[in-house]
Amino acid sequence: MGDRLTLSVIKADIGGFVGHCSVHPALVDEAQRYLAQSTLLEDFRVATVGDDLNLIMTHRHGVDHAPVHRLAWDVFISCTAIARDKKLYGAGQDLLSDAFSGNVRGMGPGVAEMELEERESEPVVVFMADKTSPGAWNYPLYKMFGDPFNTAGLVIDPKLHDGFRFEVQDFLEYRLVDFDLPEDMYDLLVFIGATGRFAIKSVRSRQTGLIAAVSSTQKLNLLAGRYVGKDDPVCIVRCQNGFPAVGEALEPFAMPHLVSGWMRGSHWGPLMPVSQADARPTRFDGPPRVVALGFQLCRGKLVGPQDFFSDISYDRARQTAGTIADYMRQHGPFEPHRLDLDQMEYTTLPQVVQKLQGRFRAIS
Ligand code: F6R
Ligand code: MG
Ligand code: MG
Repeated sequence: MGDRLTLSVIKADIGGFVGHCSVHPALVDEAQRYLAQSTLLEDFRVATVGDDLNLIMTHRHGVDHAPVHRLAWDVFISCTAIARDKKLYGAGQDLLSDAFSGNVRGMGPGVAEMELEERESEPVVVFMADKTSPGAWNYPLYKMFGDPFNTAGLVIDPKLHDGFRFEVQDFLEYRLVDFDLPEDMYDLLVFIGATGRFAIKSVRSRQTGLIAAVSSTQKLNLLAGRYVGKDDPVCIVRCQNGFPAVGEALEPFAMPHLVSGWMRGSHWGPLMPVSQADARPTRFDGPPRVVALGFQLCRGKLVGPQDFFSDISYDRARQTAGTIADYMRQHGPFEPHRLDLDQMEYTTLPQVVQKLQGRFRAIS
């Protein structure tokens, strides 16, 4: 037990209400009840985005701490029992195994954790998204920590002027690579522009070496080797005084960028910033949503949340997302609304090819 603090966000979809739309309140109550009886934590909040249950926890045990991961796992198991009892949709869908093996990474749930020395004042934002996947954070994290047109501090605040180090994960070859911005900006963009293959895993201040952001990079379908749901991701960003201001961290979401996910995890659609109450993807199971919860960390406690995207200044982004959704939807089954064949979570192509086998003929 040190005095360093760990902020762990562990999430899973363990049953939807109704369909894949939201989390039933009984599951939130159960998660709250379960976490409240643990002596491991300094504090916690249970939050939801769409059909995902997010456990936001502070503790003194560091990242990848087996008992904390087991606690989250046990919460999900316990909530799954309720989801099964109510016959909620896809009960237990993100839990890829029956037995916990010491760490929830690789077992289905998404994890973003950072260990930090609590500063004199420690504002953090927890971003949670539904109906999309980890590459969805590439654009906003790049804007926050790499783009002076988004983050004024990169230009005019001496504490940010040295830039940030981006750690990028390659999903296909399962490896990591670092980029130092601003000088490696073009190299970084070559990779993170390919959101299906590369994702920003963490960001650090180059001046202080302090951790600035972490994201969940679990890819359920790669883990399971089959479609078992989406990898709806979470991300933690530290703000102010050497990090982007809260407003600089929120600003990228004024542009509802296109992310993969939406209906059947197989379509491009705009990421709509919403309040927690409005994070109920309905239209064509979407459009994909992002919620931003702000906290002041105070001697290990979570003071908050502040539900940032409930602010009216995000109304226009929501309007724009609606307009983009109209436009994208009109493409129906055509790319680029539908993902390309390599990235689709559902496909009937092998069956259709099989059925039509005799009808294909060589071109002479
Ligand atoms: C996407 C998502 C939904 C489902 C869709 C079909 O991440 O969760 O769009 O893919 O509702 O669901 P199933 O296959 O369970 O009928
Ligand atoms: Mg679901
Ligand atoms: Mg989900």
